[in-house]
Amino acid sequence: MMKKITFTICALIFAFISCQNQSLDPAIQLSVPKNFPKPVYDFSKNPISNAGFELGKALFYDGLLSKDGTISCGSCHQQQAGFTQHGHDLSHGINDLPTLRNALPIQNLAWQKEFFWDGGVFNLDLFAISPIEAHNEMDETLPNVLDKLRNHAKYPAMFEKAFGTKEVTTARFLKALSQFQLMCISANSKYDKYVRNEGVTLTDDELGGLQLFKQKCATCHVGELFSDFSYRNNGLPIGNEEDTGRGRITLNKEDNYKFRVPSLRNIEATRPYMHDGRFRSLEVVLEHYEKGIMQSQTLDNQLKNEIPLSADEKQKIIAFLKTLTDEEFMSNKLLSEF
Ligand code: HEC
Ligand code: HEC
Repeated sequence: MMKKITFTICALIFAFISCQNQSLDPAIQLSVPKNFPKPVYDFSKNPISNAGFELGKALFYDGLLSKDGTISCGSCHQQQAGFTQHGHDLSHGINDLPTLRNALPIQNLAWQKEFFWDGGVFNLDLFAISPIEAHNEMDETLPNVLDKLRNHAKYPAMFEKAFGTKEVTTARFLKALSQFQLMCISANSKYDKYVRNEGVTLTDDELGGLQLFKQKCATCHVGELFSDFSYRNNGLPIGNEEDTGRGRITLNKEDNYKFRVPSLRNIEATRPYMHDGRFRSLEVVLEHYEKGIMQSQTLDNQLKNEIPLSADEKQKIIAFLKTLTDEEFMSNKLLSEF
């Protein structure tokens, strides 16, 4: 009796494993950059494969996800701008309607637990619904998108390659999009090569800037991802009163006008800056920290006295920030639309 049960269990496990292997592409092992911490994304729930990545990439760049076919994820997340929307303070969607905020970069998402400027989304695999259904972004419904994909010449076969059958489901659609986005890893800037001792040196100005940055900025823009991923009020004068940031999510007044500390990777390429894109240059950002801080109930304690910065110090910090530009990432053909 015992033997029979053991045998059945083994047979079942074997059938499960071989059936998975037959139809699915082998999983790609994501290579964690040497200077990065461990990713926080749970890859066991969505192992990345070549076919899944290719499907996700096709979806990311396909206007079919929007109502009139004109807006893809890639319209607002443009690779050469660090996957942000160049030239727009508030990013623009369908019929050129502005959204509430400045587009965030798609980079190193496997290291993030929460998404959006206010942390309103906490699972990457559930993410894509919000831009698709927002009337000023893609203005489409998910069921419609899935129908369009089911009746499409190329997609059912791509779903089959990625997930084993032609079935187009919400979960598969979102997982494929995540697979592409998770592969958008930016870790090859001049700074990275310098800290990994890959034969790259920084200039005196850049090194001076790095030291100043560590003293004055790295309490919030901390570590190799340049963020502690907390929500803070960095003293911006209130722009759009209705956008209370983290307060919109927690409904706690103490969180009003707090926004996520953003990463500063590729910062040179992702202007304009702040959640509403109000600052056009890094010079203006530094002037804000030096003399533009607005006192308020929720202002971060560290900024109550502003950050003293001389002209020379500002120039050095900017020189350092530019070493975070990762040209290889922004021109990587693997991630490009064409
Ligand atoms: C109309 C422009 C627009 C379109 C289209 C768009 N996005 Fe975004 N995206 C944004 C903006 C703006 C934000 C920041 C939103 C916020 O914080 O409120 C954002 C944020 C994100 C983030 C969060 C990044 C982070 O660090 O938290 C991800 C992931 C993302 N978008 C993926 C997508 C995907 C996938 C699609 C396609 C299904 C898409 N976006 C379509 C404008 C757009
Ligand atoms: C108290 C925490 C804190 C300190 C200290 C701090 N920042 Fe920030 N920083 C933030 C927050 C929060 C935001 C996002 C604010 C928003 O958009 O509402 C931000 C945004 C930025 C942005 C815009 C990023 C983007 O993608 O739009 C830049 C650039 C920046 N900070 C650079 C610096 C520099 C340089 C220093 C040191 C001189 C510094 N920060 C010090 C919390 C901080």
